Amino acid sequence: MKIDISTKIAGVKFETCVLNASGPLDETLKQLEIIGKSASSGVMMKSCTLESREGNPKPRYADLKYGSINSMGLPNLGYEKYVEFTSILKKKSKKPVIASICGMTAEDNITMFKAFNNTPVDLIEFNPGSPNTIGKPIMGYNTDALDKLLKAVSKVSKKPFGVKLPPYFDLGHYDQVAKVIKKYPVKFVTCINSIGNGLAIDPESEKPLIKPKGGFGGIGGRYVKFHALANVRRFYELFEDKIQVIGVGGVYSGSDAFEFILAGASAVQIGTAFIQQGPQIFEKVQNELRDLMRNKGYTRLSDFRGKLKPLD
Ligand code: DHB
Repeated sequence: MKIDISTKIAGVKFETCVLNASGPLDETLKQLEIIGKSASSGVMMKSCTLESREGNPKPRYADLKYGSINSMGLPNLGYEKYVEFTSILKKKSKKPVIASICGMTAEDNITMFKAFNNTPVDLIEFNPGSPNTIGKPIMGYNTDALDKLLKAVSKVSKKPFGVKLPPYFDLGHYDQVAKVIKKYPVKFVTCINSIGNGLAIDPESEKPLIKPKGGFGGIGGRYVKFHALANVRRFYELFEDKIQVIGVGGVYSGSDAFEFILAGASAVQIGTAFIQQGPQIFEKVQNELRDLMRNKGYTRLSDFRGKLKPLD
């Protein structure tokens, strides 16, 4: 039985629904080429800013028992490099290439969206605020600010774009955010960014595991899967499948991917597990997902996508 796990995001075809998340190991051309050669179904790039950034002082990432903590501080080569990389990556492989834009100001975002208009980039994931940039709030938690940013970038983008969202925990917040997003031509939302400002402590040294912000950093991996699933589910319901949802947070196995798709995701991204297990994670998750579907008698994602059953 042929098991088809391909998907489309904003009309762009992906051979499988499993790709890398923005953030880990996707900053340099060398790293992006490794992703290009892996089974990741797309090449997602590191969030870029107008100017290149060194990022926060090290150590700024640590593995944890069930995931990770990081406060990278947006280290990246500056958007012009990613504009350049897009053409190189598109020439080398047929996979969709996705740019992640995370400007410090509305003007920066406009400049970067305009620059990618003139590239072969397939999609843009707009990241309105990292949880780790000192002095910069997470824009996804301020609906007025989010509204203004989306208004500005919607005016200039000729590429299909989506929004990377922070996790929400209050049901009322989902309604407020969905209402803003529906005003603009947003094609997808990616849920969730890391859960901001956790603190991991080493009891031996009596110190935090990472240096920036007194040890505060974004939590990813297995710790965040249940909140990621809830965010995917709620936005899938609120958008009635008219705006697609991409799931990210704690995908290590085919079952994890299956659960996200059951909740309504059109694709899943892998972040922490890619750092911890290397590029073979993409093929592993894809194979496990196909096996699981075969056992259940499903041949394509539409057989079960969004069809979470009630307990009744
Ligand atoms: C960084 C972290 C994020 O969660 C994000 O969305 C963007 C950047 C960082 O620290 O580099």
